[in-house]
Amino acid sequence: MSEWWKKAVVYEIYCKSFCDSDGDGIGDLRGVMSKLPILKDLGVNCIWFAPIYTSPQVDNGYDVADYQDIEPDYGNLEIFKELLDKAHSMGIRVIMDMVLNHSSDQHRWFQESRKSKDNPYRNYYIWKAPKEDGSEPNNWGNYFKEGNGSMWEYDELTGEYYLHQYSVKMPDLNWEYEPLRKEIYKMLNWWIDFGIDGFRLDVIPRLKKTPGFPDSPNAPDPLKDKGRFVNARDMCTDVPGIHDFLQELNAEVFGKRGCFTVGEGAGINPQNALMYIAPERKELDSVYHFELCSRTRYSLPVDYYRNTQKNWAAIMEQGGWVVQHLSNHDSARQVSCYGDDGEYRTRSAKTLATLTHTMPGIPFIYQGEEIGMTNVYYDSIEDYDCCYTLGDYDTLVTNGMDPAEALRTVAPRSRDNARTPYQWTAGENAGFTTGKPWIKLNPRYTEINLEADLASEDSIFAYYRKLTDMRKENPAIVEGDLQFYLEQHPQLLVYTRTCEKQTLLVVANYSGEKVNVSLPCVLSNGNWKRILSNTEGRPAAFGRGEMAPWEVEVYTMI
Ligand code: GLC
Repeated sequence: MSEWWKKAVVYEIYCKSFCDSDGDGIGDLRGVMSKLPILKDLGVNCIWFAPIYTSPQVDNGYDVADYQDIEPDYGNLEIFKELLDKAHSMGIRVIMDMVLNHSSDQHRWFQESRKSKDNPYRNYYIWKAPKEDGSEPNNWGNYFKEGNGSMWEYDELTGEYYLHQYSVKMPDLNWEYEPLRKEIYKMLNWWIDFGIDGFRLDVIPRLKKTPGFPDSPNAPDPLKDKGRFVNARDMCTDVPGIHDFLQELNAEVFGKRGCFTVGEGAGINPQNALMYIAPERKELDSVYHFELCSRTRYSLPVDYYRNTQKNWAAIMEQGGWVVQHLSNHDSARQVSCYGDDGEYRTRSAKTLATLTHTMPGIPFIYQGEEIGMTNVYYDSIEDYDCCYTLGDYDTLVTNGMDPAEALRTVAPRSRDNARTPYQWTAGENAGFTTGKPWIKLNPRYTEINLEADLASEDSIFAYYRKLTDMRKENPAIVEGDLQFYLEQHPQLLVYTRTCEKQTLLVVANYSGEKVNVSLPCVLSNGNWKRILSNTEGRPAAFGRGEMAPWEVEVYTMI
């Protein structure tokens, strides 16, 4: 197995909220650099940076104003180079988030593009004339629900509309236009020359739009849509022709240079995944899908979890690689959504992590999950920053919902739950900054913080260390096939991972209630040695026939 990323443990850094070295309340690259030793200690061997390019920060960096420079609040190219060299010297690779679907409206290309219809950059973006009555070219709605809700924004300067799937300030790039594609390839190759190890490709299945831009047949949702503008994601996601773009990208950049790629898989599912990641198709190395963790998923019922993992394991058996994750900068905190952020916070955080780290695929840790950070519930909509949260709230209120109820509706899945500052200590501002944090802290930092976790052998952080060690020592975690047992069980997840060299068994009580365990003979007759448990000190569940709430154990066959 030559590809390093198949054995990687990736850690996502959302720089803005990670560690502030200069007291301006915003995380930065020197802050990240100071924490590399702790990431090394955690067993991470690859970092994914959410966008750190120059950006007006409308969507915290996903609105890129210069793809080849660093956001001044974070540092500059020299500091980033220093960080990269330091990470490499510690055996940590670095992958960059790359936003190829859209740029910021402050990008030089867009500033030129809007100037006139015959500007050389005009076709870098998607411009359309108004309908005869002056209205938007079609009924597609933007995802952030900005303005009147349309995916089109009128620009008086030239009397045309431009397309933006997300913010008005994030115009979509026109991938149909070859000079734009060439310019992108040049930029990507420049980053590879700079020394980075790969890319996480933002909303990559959305580069291609339905030709002709027809109206969507979807009916407006009376609560969730604004006016006549409807959810038209399907018009811009996984549209035929997308693979031509990806194959060209691979030929011009990724394949040629041998860098790792993970595609953000909005719209990628087990039915179409191999089109993107089958090695012989030469498109992407792996997919980061949203079937377990997504911005809109509140719970993960046990049967759904089992079936979803089975479907993706089948993709892996056919040569595709998938990412295992339960949280990221776009989702709420995993322990709050899928575990228990009260009585069983520590134990359920460990169980969820055990699943992620023993299922087939590449585990991605999102900053803070390794100390069990929880959702935050701000009292006022004013405290929220996330574009989706503000847009959804505004839409609900505009469509008649009571503001307090609208806040209660949007809060549990707000992306800001994941974006509160990292909780380093119980001290001032959780040790994140000496200044005023750009977004309010989660008040639970006095109880939940890294310092406290480092002081305890039973902490979530200590357990993550064991998980990353376990990956190094047990080949079945990377290579093994997945087989579930007790498939109808409403609480237990029982599965083996088997490769030529080894069989591992995981038994998890995926619930907050204790449960009787009676394993099928094929398992109970085996000789197993327990290698990990989140209730250390208790005898193995095999002997007891019962598991405590959220208890999990991993065994190897001897
Ligand atoms: C991706 C990013 C998200 C961003 C969106 C638009 O989904 O993860 O944070 O808002 O793309 O770039």
